[in-house]
Amino acid sequence: MERLKIGVLVSGGGTNLQSILDGVLEGSLSAEVVFIGANKKDAYGLERGREHGIPTEVFERKDFVTKTERDEALLKLLKAHGVELVVLAGYLGQIPSFMIGEYPNKIINIHPSLLPCFGGKGYFGEKVHQGVYDRGMKVSGATVHFVSEETDGGPIILQETVDIDFDDGVSDIQQKVLKIEHRLLPKAIQLIAEGRIEVINGRVRIDQKG
Ligand code: GRF
Repeated sequence: MERLKIGVLVSGGGTNLQSILDGVLEGSLSAEVVFIGANKKDAYGLERGREHGIPTEVFERKDFVTKTERDEALLKLLKAHGVELVVLAGYLGQIPSFMIGEYPNKIINIHPSLLPCFGGKGYFGEKVHQGVYDRGMKVSGATVHFVSEETDGGPIILQETVDIDFDDGVSDIQQKVLKIEHRLLPKAIQLIAEGRIEVINGRVRIDQKG
């Protein structure tokens, strides 16, 4: 099978990126990471990519006159590297509609909750798990979805739950969910690589292997 060319965007530690790199290396992912972009120069995800000799580039907002210029430069590089699927792995930048238009249902994001709960504007990183804790949720989980103009609002590809115990604090919840993320994101990428994902009226149909 032709390996799907993916570009990964990161802002932080890049543990989700690492789960993709591990999947490629162990042969469970029919993909190759051809480019890694970050909107923060100290994103450790960049280092993870450099260790594998993957082209990386930083796109800090302050280095560009406008956000549009920054995003246009990012899109140009994604195209230059032949990226077929854009994966937001802990990326905190907002994806502009012109980039979504260039990659229709080809930009995916991993969110650390069961969307639409604890998603959307203001819900990122620890804030998500704080919300879960404060509400006294008995389950949480992770969601992989296609990126649309609405933050965390695109068609849901995969979700997986995890039980929350009374004694779980915010960081315990975060760690439980992160373990799920590291399985779910590569699984979603593999389904896309195998052409088994179809979006019908905003809902995702997964072709169950015959
Ligand atoms: C993860 O919880 C991810 O869901 C969120 O950012 C967090 C950090 O991800 N989007 P990573 O360790 O940088 O991959």
